Amino acid sequence: MEVIIQRDYQQMSRVAAQLVVDVLNTKPNAVLGMATGSTPLGLYQELVRLHQAGQVDFSRVTTFNLDEYVGLPANHPQSYHHFMDEHFFRQVNIPRHNINIPSGTTSNYPAFCQWYEGRIAECGGIDVQILGIGSDGHIAFNEPTSSLSSRTRLKTLSKQTIDDNARFFEHREDVPVYAITMGVGTILDARKLLLVASGKTKAKAVAQAVEGPVTSMVTASALQLHRDAIVIVDEEAAAGLTMREYYEFIYAAKPAAPRT
Ligand code: GLP
Repeated sequence: MEVIIQRDYQQMSRVAAQLVVDVLNTKPNAVLGMATGSTPLGLYQELVRLHQAGQVDFSRVTTFNLDEYVGLPANHPQSYHHFMDEHFFRQVNIPRHNINIPSGTTSNYPAFCQWYEGRIAECGGIDVQILGIGSDGHIAFNEPTSSLSSRTRLKTLSKQTIDDNARFFEHREDVPVYAITMGVGTILDARKLLLVASGKTKAKAVAQAVEGPVTSMVTASALQLHRDAIVIVDEEAAAGLTMREYYEFIYAAKPAAPRT
């Protein structure tokens, strides 16, 4: 696993966006795995900026989102469909039919999940999967105790996640209890993983994911099993890491590494 520590959120977002652009430069028809949550917003803003500056083209890109709340229609302001439209898809040139997001309103979840997995495979698999991390160490909506080989499925949200995400809803009771999410196994199948984390509320989860044991109690720790996983954090999110000097030494010695 590669750990990149940046001074602040903006710089973390820039470095992450550049890594996505690097993938698109070598493979213009890459399949991108998208994440929601507040953390990747800066990364998306930077990709939009680079697109508007003519430095990156998305016309051949296909995307797959990690997850969606069950029960929220695509036009619901808190749905991940709406989030992605608002913050990214509306501002870049990805063809509509190349955008895939789990449905929160299908009448047959098992069939839909199987279809979603099949569709990822049909498109050649995910080249780079963007990830955030929950304060309990989850990736997508793979809550503690999720199998590390799980596939796309319906998942019950933990109390911690409901509490964390309540800030986006009017009342805590409005937060959906279920979500449809790619599994940890689905995520590990991506060719490259890019996890971004910012702020002190993520410091413990980041330390557990990067330096703790691989455990289903912290599903982000499964990144340790991946051969090309990059974790980009800001100072606050890096606070619990014990091997910091080592990560910085490696990053400084890397010739092609983006510089601040
Ligand atoms: C939700 C999403 C995750 C995201 C997490 C953290 O649980 N399903 O994909 O990583 O929130 O979100 P934030 O970046 O807002 O802290």
